[in-house]
Amino acid sequence: MSIFKDGLLKDRHVLITGAGSGIGRGMAMAFSSLGAHVSIVGRREEKLAETAHMIEETGNKCLFRKCDVRNLDEVRAAISYFKDALGEPNVLVNNAAGNFISRTEDLSFNAFRAVMDIVMQGTLHFTMELGKSWISGRNSGTILNIVAGYAESGSGYVVPSAIAKAGVLSLTRSLAAEWGKYGIRSIAISPGLVPTEGSITRLAPTEELQKAMLNRIPLKRYCTPEEIADLASFLISDAASFINGDVVTMDGGERQWLSGQFNFLDALAPEHWDLIRSMRRG
Ligand code: HXC
Repeated sequence: MSIFKDGLLKDRHVLITGAGSGIGRGMAMAFSSLGAHVSIVGRREEKLAETAHMIEETGNKCLFRKCDVRNLDEVRAAISYFKDALGEPNVLVNNAAGNFISRTEDLSFNAFRAVMDIVMQGTLHFTMELGKSWISGRNSGTILNIVAGYAESGSGYVVPSAIAKAGVLSLTRSLAAEWGKYGIRSIAISPGLVPTEGSITRLAPTEELQKAMLNRIPLKRYCTPEEIADLASFLISDAASFINGDVVTMDGGERQWLSGQFNFLDALAPEHWDLIRSMRRG
């Protein structure tokens, strides 16, 4: 059951990239259930059709178009397809991502290019195409980018993604300052790990690694696509109309845990705490 009022997003036409699965699909379903028109793109047509079908089963419509966000011609074709059918999207969600775990010295330039082009270039393609059109048509709009905690901190073993997400975060903040005067808001969500098909098995391929990842999340569970979708619904709604340039973290406290020097003491056994207590003076 949604905590939001019916029709919250009824004036929105939301274009979501990478909506054939995971967080993108979760957002498409949530936005549509709140009255938004939803148009989705992704690289795999059958996955997009699946998302559209799930939305149609709820009685709503969803337009989809196969599009590799790296390819500007395909981006332009997708935008004009959606525009012809439903009018220009007034909300853009840059969600499409690629990532893999690797030692940086093992990566080819092509591997860097694959991830950076999807994350950074893909975001730029949609942002510039829609943003310029909103400005020239004197229309307002909202850009919501999906980043990651390491967009701020950097991280080894996911370096192409870290570089690209840092760029997307900077784009978010830069455009918030520059395009706010046109009524265009630019915001970001920084989710913790969401165990979807594309993420956890690729980013933490063994059970041991998955356990280690879970252990450093204070709330001891992963984020769900529905939780991200609820946050996103709020951020693209009128209720958040004064939020611009901010990144909202939803990671169960993981970033906070990672930044505290002694938080690793979580792993101490009770007898170690007894020992530490016995060392107190008085
Ligand atoms: C090292 C790799 C690799 C890997 C591919 N490459 N996979 N290098 N480790 N695991 C190299 C290839 O050898 C090739 O270089 C180059 O990358 C391009 O490979 P392609 O397969 O042609 O790329 P492409 O089809 O464009 O797809 C790349 C991809 C893909 C988008 C990254 O793996 C993919 O579709 N992934 C699924 C989406 C995904 O990753 N989602 C996770 C997002 S989750 P050479 O030199 O050989 O040509 C996320 C959340 C993180 O980002 C935040 C957590 C908190």
